[in-house]
Amino acid sequence: MPTTEFAYKTYFDEFEVESLVSGPTINYGLFETEIKDTQAEQLKVYSGLERGLPMFSGASFGNQVHFQNAYQTPVQRWFPYREGYSTRLVNSFIKELKITGYVFDPFSGSGTTLLASRTNNLNSFGIDVNPISVLVATVENEQYSKSDIKYLSLEIDRIKSLLKSNETFQTSFELAGKVFNQEILQSLLQLKKHIKEIENEKIKNLSFVAWLSIIEGVSNIKKEGNGIKYKNRKRTPTGYINIDKDVWEKQTFPVDKFGFVKIKLVKHLETILFDIVNNYGNCEKKPNIFKGSCLEFDTLFSSEIQFTFFSPPYCNCFDYFEIHKVDLWLGDFVSDKEDFRLLRNTGFRSNTNSLTHKPIIYKNENLENLISLFNNEKLWNNKIPNVVRGYFDDTHTLLNKLYRQTIEGGYVGIVVGNSAYSGVIIPSDVLIANIAKEIGFKVKSIFVTRHLTTSSQQKQELEILKNYLRESIVLLEK
Ligand SMILES: C[S@@+](CC[C@H](N)C(=O)[O-])C[C@H]1O[C@@H](n2cnc3c(N)ncnc32)[C@H](O)[C@@H]1O
Repeated sequence: MPTTEFAYKTYFDEFEVESLVSGPTINYGLFETEIKDTQAEQLKVYSGLERGLPMFSGASFGNQVHFQNAYQTPVQRWFPYREGYSTRLVNSFIKELKITGYVFDPFSGSGTTLLASRTNNLNSFGIDVNPISVLVATVENEQYSKSDIKYLSLEIDRIKSLLKSNETFQTSFELAGKVFNQEILQSLLQLKKHIKEIENEKIKNLSFVAWLSIIEGVSNIKKEGNGIKYKNRKRTPTGYINIDKDVWEKQTFPVDKFGFVKIKLVKHLETILFDIVNNYGNCEKKPNIFKGSCLEFDTLFSSEIQFTFFSPPYCNCFDYFEIHKVDLWLGDFVSDKEDFRLLRNTGFRSNTNSLTHKPIIYKNENLENLISLFNNEKLWNNKIPNVVRGYFDDTHTLLNKLYRQTIEGGYVGIVVGNSAYSGVIIPSDVLIANIAKEIGFKVKSIFVTRHLTTSSQQKQELEILKNYLRESIVLLEK
């Protein structure tokens, strides 16, 4: 009987597994004089954290831990969920670990883990705090019957034949006038009203997801980095220039704005129809998807879990609600600022907007050592130390709950990226592995899938530490 380690080697050979236990390739002797005190301190903490952990190269997963391929993948392409990963990634782990029991994703996003589980004929469930994610995951994991397919193709014909209305449609989204050309906004709102009146619930939800997914393409903004950027603001070698909004809109959009938006929606619905007809609908297992915080998942269901696979928000201040702000407002998921604030407060403590008065209970010495190295003058927000503490407090709570609800011999796979503040790297992968060990999990492997880039400002500062700026998959076993 091969040991699990051996089994990994044979399976992951395909994925160029290479042991990284020897640690970073830094010649301390040679660089001694160039390493700043704080960097030497960091290296000490990192090597302490990595000691004894089974580190592997997971370079061949590098193109599966992000959404790039999913833009072309049937079903996943229904909604561009930039923060998602590939179904291939989840498939590999399900197959390698021979999963037959319940699968769970506590940060289900667009539902990739659930989709992969479903196509492997496994029962699964997921949770997410963002109502858009819940809707997308529900729609992508729905069963569509022959009569639904017929209804959808008739609906596409109905939308095709719609004419521009003379009615003026309202939205509570204050920034709508800036984010959209006025006629495009009216076209979107008219189409939304039409979709809300569709009687077949499944086709209504599906059409609404299609409508949500075309918003960015017909708007004046794009999702980029940690937020939204105006498309008429262009970077030139001498700095940014703003093209006048009216001029930019005239150059960008055709005269028939209603036709333009309508065709985008129709084309997207046709792609969805194509996927349903050709690739989908044969799986019997339908996942349960809850809207809520994963920190309370144990109150929502009681099944014992064999495999949890997820990617949490990273500890990098990325705000999921900010990036989906336009969709949330225009799609009526929030109707005033208080709604929006409350929604943000339910998120994992990974950014400054998610900090509440919730106490920080979990203490971690390595983390405190790293936080003490922050250069407060260089931090762009003085809440960052508590974001980092809150993040690992939430991680600790979640891992504890997962431990309690995972069956003996069950697994947890976590796709996570490390982050950096004022030249100090927070190595979430090995911190999480160590917290999991404290709780009782065995750390099976840490696959380093790719190294992350950073702003040119931080680049030079982080040169010596760059091996730690990476995205990994932490695999735990109970
Ligand atoms: C990296 S994304 C997950 C993407 C997902 N794996 C996919 O492929 O679509 C992280 C998700 O965590 C969700 N999230 C943030 N805080 C949460 C919380 N407390 N409970 C559950 N979900 C949360 C965000 O809304 C986001 O969808």
